[in-house]
Amino acid sequence: MKLKHILESQQFTVPMLMELFERTNQMKKIVARGGTRDYHNKIMCNLFYQPSTRTRFSFESAMHRLGGSVISTEQATEFSSEIKGEMLEDTIQIISNYCDAIVLRHGEEGGAKRAAAVSPVPIINAGDGSGGQHPTQALLDLYTIFNECHSLDGLSVAFVGALDYGRTARSLAYLLSKFERVKLYFIAPEETQIKQDILDHLEEKNVSYELANSTQSFLSKVNVLYQTRIPRERLLNQDMDLSPFYIDSASLQKMKSDSIVMHPLPRSVEINPVIDTDPRAAYFRQAQNGLFVRMALLTMLFDTD
Ligand code: CP
Repeated sequence: MKLKHILESQQFTVPMLMELFERTNQMKKIVARGGTRDYHNKIMCNLFYQPSTRTRFSFESAMHRLGGSVISTEQATEFSSEIKGEMLEDTIQIISNYCDAIVLRHGEEGGAKRAAAVSPVPIINAGDGSGGQHPTQALLDLYTIFNECHSLDGLSVAFVGALDYGRTARSLAYLLSKFERVKLYFIAPEETQIKQDILDHLEEKNVSYELANSTQSFLSKVNVLYQTRIPRERLLNQDMDLSPFYIDSASLQKMKSDSIVMHPLPRSVEINPVIDTDPRAAYFRQAQNGLFVRMALLTMLFDTD
């Protein structure tokens, strides 16, 4: 199945997700033997207007593993002609002459859609705006859950953190809503709770959900705890006790033995590193899956079948 652009989670159907997971498993085998599916004639552009470690490096590595080439700017607000006032649409039309796909992280919600509207080559949304989406992160998150929990139906997933601006949580909620008997918990300080558009979508899809302001009573219930950061500057009370939202050894003890803790990373203080060696700490495996899933996505953009 060929993709034109990757802009938001809603564009993926369940059969597309299953194909992506199959391709991802093939990519693991390709990487294990050093890489290549011979995209030596393909060039990918990384155009990042915001900082990134995982997304930028994993896309870059994915393209190299596939045998292709990469051109990039790591801080496009400073090192592209945006600083001279060039509009995104012009930048995209220019860069599309030099590459076969553009991976775009942009500060404005809807930036990836604006780019796709003028781009003759695929646009991959690597995160747009504060309340936008990060679909490739959600796809690697979903693959990780599928791999670790062996199913996507019947799962209980708790999202924890500043969820209103949490584009990874937003994108993953859209994907999880495609599966049967899923229960979602959104655990956040009130002023950073998940936005109504996601709740409206869940209601439309008959997905059960609950809002809360402490992780504690949900630890024993969930299959997946999806932790994210809570920037203090986002809180009305900047001295607020955030420990009810943090995970440490004591909280892990309350969780099921086959549950997992995820985090899109980077983390701050919300996951105590003492739990890193617990097999339920899945966040580094999750980040590693980013390479394989992004390789698979590139094949779905480039392959003709
Ligand atoms: N998870 C994620 O998007 O990380 P980066 O900001 O480092 O790319």
